[in-house]
Amino acid sequence: MDVLKDISISVGKNEFVSVVGPSGCGKSTLLRIIARLVSCDSGNFNISGTTSYLQQTTLLMPWRNVYSNIILPLEIKTGRKDRFNEEVLELIREFGLEGFENYRPDEISGGMAKRVALLRTYLENRDILLLDEPFSSLDAINRKQMQQWLLKIWRNHKKTVVFVTHDIDEALFLSDKIYILSNRPAVITGELVPGFDRPRNYDKIYSKEYINMKMEVERSLLIK
Ligand SMILES: Nc1ncnc2c1ncn2[C@@H]1O[C@H](COP(=O)(O)OP(=O)(O)OP(=O)(O)O)[C@@H](O)[C@H]1O
Ligand SMILES: [Mg+2]
Repeated sequence: MDVLKDISISVGKNEFVSVVGPSGCGKSTLLRIIARLVSCDSGNFNISGTTSYLQQTTLLMPWRNVYSNIILPLEIKTGRKDRFNEEVLELIREFGLEGFENYRPDEISGGMAKRVALLRTYLENRDILLLDEPFSSLDAINRKQMQQWLLKIWRNHKKTVVFVTHDIDEALFLSDKIYILSNRPAVITGELVPGFDRPRNYDKIYSKEYINMKMEVERSLLIK
């Protein structure tokens, strides 16, 4: 079965690129190809830089607590179990996970598990972040906070981001460029450059122009 048919995307260094498309069209497959977890049957792709991949299903180690899950990449890198890394503790606070350090994954909510996984992905400290619906189970306020955090680390740490989402507002708010995919086998039905000034906040970008762009994305999503 063909999943991706005619996909050509380019992501520049330090760019924030989003991919939106209907469920089952192949967005996660695209990220898996970029992460080199699966190979494509035809076509080719080139990447320069290292990638870290936050999968759609939150893969935490059930026997490790929140803190030990978060610091896993640091542990692998240094071979040490640093219990009190100040940077990590600060991030735990910023992510609203303070007080839950000793909880195990089955004792926290889905949204919290997402945040733990995102933090772990960030601490892998690679050039390219591949994020598959990282905020999908968060409430609206929490989601906006996490979006702001992501933009901050993207800006301050000069990352390249490929971001999969179903949420058009989120894509418009975060991205330099958005690719819209059709149903399977997926082709690109739209490409859009939001172009709002940065740093962004929602108050600033809600405008007539914004609504028009949102309608354009919705139209592209309806193309079969
Ligand atoms: N490991 C696999 N083996 C075979 N088929 C797969 C596999 N993973 C995904 N598929 C198929 O590939 C297609 C695309 O799946 P994919 O997970 O990439 O979609 P998606 O766009 O990420 O969907 P969603 O928005 O629901 O996450 C689906 O039809 C799915 O059944
Ligand atoms: Mg998916």
